[in-house]
Amino acid sequence: VASRSAELPASTRARLGILISGRGSNLLALHAATRDGRLPAEIAVVISNRKDAAGCERARERGLPTVVIEKGALDRAGHEARILAELRLHGVEWVCLAGYMRILGPTLVDAYPQRIVNIHPSLLPAFPGRDAQRQAWEYGVRIAGCTVHMVDRGLDSGPIVEQQALEVSDAASAKELAERLLPIEHELYATALRRLLTETWIVEGRRVVFSKKEG
Ligand code: GAR
Repeated sequence: VASRSAELPASTRARLGILISGRGSNLLALHAATRDGRLPAEIAVVISNRKDAAGCERARERGLPTVVIEKGALDRAGHEARILAELRLHGVEWVCLAGYMRILGPTLVDAYPQRIVNIHPSLLPAFPGRDAQRQAWEYGVRIAGCTVHMVDRGLDSGPIVEQQALEVSDAASAKELAERLLPIEHELYATALRRLLTETWIVEGRRVVFSKKEG
């Protein structure tokens, strides 16, 4: 069944660049949301900083333009300049980090002010960085969750767009917690992005303040 946003002409749908380092399940979730009408956007390019990332194959299987740009001997600015060139080549308007395991520097952050978002598997500001689900489980939190936030130059530190909590009292392991969080991440990422694309908002200090568009 064709949905409203799927019927929108391509020119009115935001062009997304998705950055990945691994499995790519959030990438696939965003892709599904662009196809079933939840997200008025299209994926213009997928960029991985690892050629062995499983998400690359999954993206190619879906016909998405997919590029590997490894850091190799480049410094951060040089690596990001190559990524930026690829994003521009594909007319990318919004950058979505989806399991992209590098901190961004000024080359990318300043090129897309307030147009780079990330999904992180904890209730920030708790447990930034790697293995957030394990950090949360080992700490013994009763409430875990995930966060979609705008990306600045810090580690998982930009203004928060959306968060979703999950009770962990019955999660028997860090692995189980991560598994239970993943579908929540997938849902939240599409929801948060949809809000950013379809509502009016401003960033006031650390706060993303939404106000519905009229009509
Ligand atoms: C996801 O859990 C995502 O939230 C996390 O990596 C995983 C990637 O899975 N990201 C971070 O930890 C970023 N700091 P995916 O490749 O299947 O989307």
